[in-house]
Amino acid sequence: MAITPQQIISKKQAGEKIVSLTAYDYSTAKLIDQTEAVDFILVGDSLGMVVLGYPDTVHVTMADMLHHVKAVARGVSRSLVVADMPFLSVHVDLKTAVENCGRMLQEGSAQAVKIEGASEWTLQLISRLTEMGIPVMGHLGYTPQSINTLGIKVQAKTMEAAETLIQDAQALEAAGAFAVVLEMVPTEVSALVSRMLTIPTIGIGAGPNCDGQILVLDDFLGRYPDFTPKFARRYMQFSEDLKAAIQQYAIDIIAGDFPHIQNESFHFPADQLENLQAYETSEKVKCKL
Ligand code: KIV
Repeated sequence: MAITPQQIISKKQAGEKIVSLTAYDYSTAKLIDQTEAVDFILVGDSLGMVVLGYPDTVHVTMADMLHHVKAVARGVSRSLVVADMPFLSVHVDLKTAVENCGRMLQEGSAQAVKIEGASEWTLQLISRLTEMGIPVMGHLGYTPQSINTLGIKVQAKTMEAAETLIQDAQALEAAGAFAVVLEMVPTEVSALVSRMLTIPTIGIGAGPNCDGQILVLDDFLGRYPDFTPKFARRYMQFSEDLKAAIQQYAIDIIAGDFPHIQNESFHFPADQLENLQAYETSEKVKCKL
């Protein structure tokens, strides 16, 4: 039985930190799940940059997301799987928005969705979704789908902006969201929001006082070659290790060391080996040459 949104909320009430990572494929999601250390796995629309090579998340479509949500969900049995709603999938008419969110659960086998922002429209949608049984995670602070209006920068750095963020977070809670991601927000502001909400805050570039933390898997692994944000701690040296492994692979092939003649190869039945050798020198083969 997967971890439920209610259990995520209970962790905050118990004073336990919430642990999460993004994932985009079956094998990685399965390994993450097997650790039993991760409460929820977000199939983030960061997919666009780190897997698909788009310049931003604005280019990510419903089809892109569904493809990867399905793959992740197939590998996970314990963690809660949250599907990010991509650009243009929810800020449209209510019917389309509800259908798109529903598809993430019905076709994608996610158990919750994440939606950026807290406009009046978004809050209405979240109320409707939670009423229908679709759990929603909010996302405030730097919201990457607004890159063309916000740019990439730390949010809530003035008193006025901090107050707006706090009110937005409270409105998300009132609308029924079960958690809120705070991205690139000053530590003092995220600490205050975390104290003021009953639902957990999940920080990414929002300091240590959030109720939980999330990292983009490729930042965690050190796999994304284009950019590493200040807040992203690398837990592995994946790029360096991968390049070194590929160099070694090439050396092994060129030296005739790979594959190993016994351990990594298949063999013709020993009792028929003579026939195979005789075939090479037979008249039948000679005629064809
Ligand atoms: O898309 C994503 O990976 C996200 C995280 C940064 C929270 O939204």
